[in-house]
Amino acid sequence: MKILTIVGARPQFIKAGPVSRAMASQGVEEILVHTGQHYDLEMSSLFFKELDLPEPKFHLGVGSGSHGSQTASMLVGIERVVMEIQPDAVLVYGDTNSTLAGALAASKLHVPVVHIEAGLRSWNRRMPEELNRITVDHLSELLLAPTHQACENLRNEGFQELTHGNPSGTHQQPYAWVGDVMLDALNHHLQSPNARRACPELPTGGYYLASLHRAQNTDDPELLKSWLNAFSQADRPVVFPLHPRTKAVIERFGLQEQLGGSLKILPPLGYLAMLGTQRGAAAILTDSGGVQKEAYILGVPCITLRQETEWTETLEGGWNRLCGEPSKLWESLGAPNGDRKPVYGDGTAAPKSVALMLQLFGH
Ligand code: UD1
Ligand code: UDP
Repeated sequence: MKILTIVGARPQFIKAGPVSRAMASQGVEEILVHTGQHYDLEMSSLFFKELDLPEPKFHLGVGSGSHGSQTASMLVGIERVVMEIQPDAVLVYGDTNSTLAGALAASKLHVPVVHIEAGLRSWNRRMPEELNRITVDHLSELLLAPTHQACENLRNEGFQELTHGNPSGTHQQPYAWVGDVMLDALNHHLQSPNARRACPELPTGGYYLASLHRAQNTDDPELLKSWLNAFSQADRPVVFPLHPRTKAVIERFGLQEQLGGSLKILPPLGYLAMLGTQRGAAAILTDSGGVQKEAYILGVPCITLRQETEWTETLEGGWNRLCGEPSKLWESLGAPNGDRKPVYGDGTAAPKSVALMLQLFGH
């Protein structure tokens, strides 16, 4: 079986790691396409090196742009590659523009699409990620869900569970629960001495970790300014590795003056340093999907800087709390009051995913 994998953004490199390893060990030929959506060294090549990912055979070099122009350039490039390679299936991850372009290009060429991290819903259609996920799920021929909530969302949209046979017909593409490949990645890398060493510049004596990059928090400079103000008033240092999107808005609107107080600004961290930094934090403040889950898995209290989350299981027991209003940030911080459950599976989501791909598309 020949699988064409589409990646392009930071979290997709992390998710691809365990799945690429599982494909290699189950005898699947994988050909990697990097769309070039993320391109800075610390947003892209650092991860390929650190996570020991296979070299992309195709690099489309698409770069940044508006949603339309970025997605359109990816579509053109991916279509060409799919026609050349003729894979048995195209594998896409998550909810970025690279995911959407991969799913659309492949499905129009009648190549089955496999979606890892299917079924997530925030019910907020102003998020570009929500539009991408809904579209990609409905274009996919195999939907691999990380949580039981995601399965329920898919059932409610007319998809059918794979264990009920291999259904055919509109809106009946099969889904299966596999767990979350980010847990597989975390388990694999947490043992690394580099994750234990974490980031050398960490303050001693306790700190919070912040990450902020969602369009809804960064595109409005007034809102971003309010978040930065709230962070800077913390009762201990706030370690803040800046996503390039956030950095660009800070520079464009001259918000550098807001970066004082408790804030300790860092460049984006590699995955191992990020894991170590998360593990040592007193609490995590984030609008990242991946970081919310990692905080839950690592047992670090988290505030999600949004009004809603698609990772609803993290809210149970107070491990994750929602706060979409900067002035209420610090009153949202509270001690967890319940157990954490193994909601993301047992760390074998990647081999399960590959086995299902072989079952459906192998020959
Ligand atoms: C994208 C995804 C988002 C995901 C995030 C992970 C979409 C619609 N959004 O958001 O779902 O959570 O990746 O990090 O696909 N930039 C650089 N260097 C880079 C990459 C980006 O400077 O290597 C800057 C550019 O100014 C660019 C901006 O960041 O315009 C936004 O990048 P883009 O890839 O469009 O979206 P993200 O915010 O990274
Ligand atoms: N991450 C990282 N370095 C950073 C910030 C995040 O390695 O400076 C990792 C993080 O540990 C998680 C993933 O990137 O595994 C999450 O990606 P991101 O926040 O960019 O996107 P999202 O998950 O919100 O789509």
